[in-house]
Amino acid sequence: MEALSIIRRQAGEKPVEAGIVLGSGLGQLGDAVTEAVSIHYEALPGFPKGGVSGHQGRLIIGGLAGRRVAVFSGREHYYEHGNPAAMRPALEALQGLGASTLILTNAAGSLRSAVGPTSIVVHSDYVNWSGRNPLIGEAGDARFVDMRDAYDPALRATLRDVAAREGIPHHEGVYFWFSGPTFETPAEIRAMKILGADLVGMSTVPEVILARRLGLRVAALSMVTNLAAGFEGAEISHHDTKAVAAKGSAAMIRMIKGLLETGL
Ligand code: HPA
Repeated sequence: MEALSIIRRQAGEKPVEAGIVLGSGLGQLGDAVTEAVSIHYEALPGFPKGGVSGHQGRLIIGGLAGRRVAVFSGREHYYEHGNPAAMRPALEALQGLGASTLILTNAAGSLRSAVGPTSIVVHSDYVNWSGRNPLIGEAGDARFVDMRDAYDPALRATLRDVAAREGIPHHEGVYFWFSGPTFETPAEIRAMKILGADLVGMSTVPEVILARRLGLRVAALSMVTNLAAGFEGAEISHHDTKAVAAKGSAAMIRMIKGLLETGL
């Protein structure tokens, strides 16, 4: 049986309004879902298997801030198996459940010394300098996706309002996708800065591309866990990433709940 049928059989036919992908250390949001039906990725054909430390690998369907949502607790990163399209089946299932909006979260390094650990940054755009793209190999004209508004302007505007209302400092920035799993060298970070990066991280961009291909509206938010390599005071490790993200996750949860409440 395909993933969509399995999900529907367990969680019911009622459409989902939005999907939310949780980044490293942000798993707490999954616990806030009410009347939750939780399904392990292992039980869903095509969904990521195994996974990275700091991620749980389960799909949680239920209520959050008055909306019906599908929370993806855990993602497959490009660096795991070198497959940029790894999240395609999961995002296709989300679309099949009726969602029109995808909210992506991650942990990221900051290239702005004034935007330090635990800051939340809304993505305004991205740079994909990797030469990788999850649509490579797809046939037909639908693969030529217009990326001028990769991140939905209305969702970004709502997030600005939510930040003001919640008293959370608002930042927007350009996210530079770096394959990982190594962190960057200081020279790589200097190069990215010249290329327009405000944030660096190892995820999200392939999912944005896949979601835009599927016609979903996208918003993405980073939890800054460290200043990028070469910045004074930069502390970089996967352990720190998870610890800092967990510390800052309350504000991330308020931002996402605010977005769901105020308008999708
Ligand atoms: N680089 C890449 N990915 C990251 C970082 C970083 O500095 N911090 C958290 N994820």
